[in-house]
Amino acid sequence: MDKISQEIRELAKAKDAVILAHYYVDGAVQDVADYVGDSFYLAKVAKKDPHKTIVFCGVTFMGQSANILSPDKTVLMPDLNAVCPMALMVDANKIKEMRDEYDDLAVVCYINSMAEIKALSDVCVTSSNALKIVRSLPNKNIFFIPDGNLGRFVKEQCPEKNVILNEGYCHVHTSITANDVEKAFREHENAQILVHPECTQEVCDLADFTGSTKEIIEYAEASSADEFIVCTEKGVLHELIKRAPSKKFYFVGAKQTCPNMKKITLEKVRDCLLNGTGSISVSDSVRLDADKPLERMLELGSVKEPVLV
Ligand code: 13P
Ligand code: SF4
Repeated sequence: MDKISQEIRELAKAKDAVILAHYYVDGAVQDVADYVGDSFYLAKVAKKDPHKTIVFCGVTFMGQSANILSPDKTVLMPDLNAVCPMALMVDANKIKEMRDEYDDLAVVCYINSMAEIKALSDVCVTSSNALKIVRSLPNKNIFFIPDGNLGRFVKEQCPEKNVILNEGYCHVHTSITANDVEKAFREHENAQILVHPECTQEVCDLADFTGSTKEIIEYAEASSADEFIVCTEKGVLHELIKRAPSKKFYFVGAKQTCPNMKKITLEKVRDCLLNGTGSISVSDSVRLDADKPLERMLELGSVKEPVLV
């Protein structure tokens, strides 16, 4: 372990802090973390972990969710400017309009959203549990926010529901084009195509497997195939190489990195632990309403509980 990582581990111990990292942050940051995972896994850890402080290496909506689920803990973000643009792509007025139009409406809110929007929603979802949760709802009419692509993926798989889409999108996943993927496949004909549901319909249509970041990693590890074209953020490569060192992974196009996730550096992790900076918290009035859809997600979406170390 290098000097700064060692310093971070010592500070975390001294400050009773746990470090959580999303698969999209730099490999060196993933390596210093206690838990690395996708959005759903990290939300569950944030709820259950007993440490006094959570350092969340990810984008701000993740830190907000940790604070909502665990209001007694201090949540520190190494960089408060690491925001997910998609989290802002939904309008509170639109939610009101939809509620006025449909009596039987469930507002299903992707966790990539700000706390104020969660507070207006019926249930939160992540890419690994959205299908399961939408299917389990009694409502016929579903307003799926903010991601139009994950919403479309859910709509296709749940023809029994009327899923109304919003126009939000992830600029990283939608930068992957079907042409890029087809070109990569011509070069690697034995490869399986793994796609995150934030990708466009054209890219999802080419997939051998579609799933969340964690599901993509688990699929590649368990598969009998040796080569994969990976259509998600490049940070997953760090874990893919650890889990399946003999397999080959190809990324397509030039824009498969999330600039906001990459704002998190080891220096910023150290500094927030050292100085207690980057604290994120949600006002009580918003938090109490935003907690309900998040708790409902944990209840409806849980398959396996995380094993705490
Ligand atoms: P998951 O962590 O659910 O795969 O979501 C991907 C993502 O874009 C997080 O910002
Ligand atoms: Fe947001 Fe996309 Fe970056 Fe995830 S990868 S944080 S959805 S911009």
